[in-house]
Amino acid sequence: MNRSSVYDCSVIELDCHSSDRRGNMSVVENGKSIPFDVRRVYYLYDVPGGVERGGHAHRSLYQLIIAVSGSFSVTLDDGKLKRTVFLNRPNRGLLVVPGLWRTIEDFSSGAVCMVLASSEYDEEDYIRDYGSFLNLKN
Ligand code: TYD
Repeated sequence: MNRSSVYDCSVIELDCHSSDRRGNMSVVENGKSIPFDVRRVYYLYDVPGGVERGGHAHRSLYQLIIAVSGSFSVTLDDGKLKRTVFLNRPNRGLLVVPGLWRTIEDFSSGAVCMVLASSEYDEEDYIRDYGSFLNLKN
């Protein structure tokens, strides 16, 4: 995890099935759209304006973050560089590799932030103290 950089993360265009009259559908499939198998899905919603979520790093978790509704900004930090990605399309996902501090903020009204994760919830995988994160990275 100590080698990962903000440039190891990328925005992935998801498969989008469109129809003029019936709307759109996007698909995420293990082994095709993303470089990990999905073991858990969670989503943030009803986040009040001005609130920041996240504020932690993961030792080994991969994540795909999708704005399935509304918009928000994800800031990635590798201990040296920061990079902010604005997400506002349900057919786009931000791939986040392990070893990055990430925060999510500027939630629009009605925003839903869906996270597809590579493993089950494990508090041991979290680094929740920014100073400890910097020590591990540098
Ligand atoms: P937390 O990681 O603090 O949320 P955020 O970083 O987005 O602000 O998670 C909030 C609470 O939910 C915390 O008590 C842990 C719990 N939680 C689970 O039980 N399972 C999960 O998959 C996740 C992501 C969190």
